Amino acid sequence: MSKKIATRMQGISPFYVMELLQRAKQLEQQGRDIIHMEIGEPDFPTPAGIVEAGIKSIQTGYAKYTPAAGLPALRERIARYYLDNYHVKVSAQRIFITPGASGAFLLALGVTLNEGESVLLADPSYPCNSNFIKLFGGMPSFVPVSEKSDYHLTGELIGQNWAENCKAAVIASPSNPTGTMLSDDGLRAAIDAVNQNQGCFLSDEIYHGLVYDKYAATALKFSDEVFVINSFSKYFAMTGWRIGWLVVPEAFIEPVEKLAQNIFISTSTHSQAAALEAFTHTNLAELDRRKMEFKQRRDYLYSKLSEIGFKIRAKPEGAFYIYADCSHFTQDSFLFAKDLLEEAGVAITPGKDFGQHQANIHVRFAYTTSLERLEEGVARIKRYIEGNK
Ligand SMILES: Cc1ncc(COP(=O)(O)O)c(C=O)c1O
Repeated sequence: MSKKIATRMQGISPFYVMELLQRAKQLEQQGRDIIHMEIGEPDFPTPAGIVEAGIKSIQTGYAKYTPAAGLPALRERIARYYLDNYHVKVSAQRIFITPGASGAFLLALGVTLNEGESVLLADPSYPCNSNFIKLFGGMPSFVPVSEKSDYHLTGELIGQNWAENCKAAVIASPSNPTGTMLSDDGLRAAIDAVNQNQGCFLSDEIYHGLVYDKYAATALKFSDEVFVINSFSKYFAMTGWRIGWLVVPEAFIEPVEKLAQNIFISTSTHSQAAALEAFTHTNLAELDRRKMEFKQRRDYLYSKLSEIGFKIRAKPEGAFYIYADCSHFTQDSFLFAKDLLEEAGVAITPGKDFGQHQANIHVRFAYTTSLERLEEGVARIKRYIEGNK
């Protein structure tokens, strides 16, 4: 590595799935048809009403900086969303509009983490968070999790793994890559365990809009001392608009505002104007209809993958992912994913994008493509496996 590149970059890992994505594009250019089950974003477009509000905002010249914390009207609207949706009262002052959940994480970690402090994360989990922790000079402390805890950190696991230099714990429920959830009691116990250690609890609620058979409680229901990260990316189908939000404990309002002013100045103005429109009855009804379509895809893929011989050890209850044990077919899930792409034209994500614990025998399927394409994907996987017996 060039001496000009900061040494900290050695600790930042790339997405392995990018290699597969590039190869998939190459194959598509050669005329191959590829079924994409690797992509972590909705295949649906942003609802028309939201798009129109964004365009209108640009056309009316509304393109100046907003306050660093975000448009007051959007902060108020999100506060109302907590009241309507979760029956939880949150003051708009505690809500910061950010460039995606990613921006929210940067702010939350930036105001909490000192150099050398560690943060508890589940292994497997969404990989960017551990890289953010390293960027701030902290240390990700991975706790291997399994179906026994629905792939989540529990209060017990947090208690057992809390070390002297520990500062925080991150939980994302529903989880990426497993789609599994913590129960309300489980979430409360995890928050209690962190609070008992005077740590910071970071709750990534980005997939809350996409929970299929139950109701997801926000961490704010159990404590005002938590950081809640959320986003318009997934349920609202606005990945490319780069907009999300962060709810902070009262004492952190000032430091978060200071950091947001410096890092972002403000989140994109037209995205904020568009997001304000996201909460209309018409848009929410459309998003809920799509949620039912995701559920249908989940039910289909869950049963078919199990039939084929993948072991799905905990039922995914939300997000749009299925994390499957592929040890029946391979001990090298990366090689398996590469081969499946070459031979069957199906792209999936290898376990090693989400950690190390049993990563070699797991893969993630995303059902971010139509049921028809999923059916074709399943047929190809079946043929591939039968052909390699
Ligand atoms: C669990 C989780 N958190 C955060 C993010 C980042 O999302 P955003 O697009 O809002 O920055 C993702 C994106 O895939 C995710 O899966």
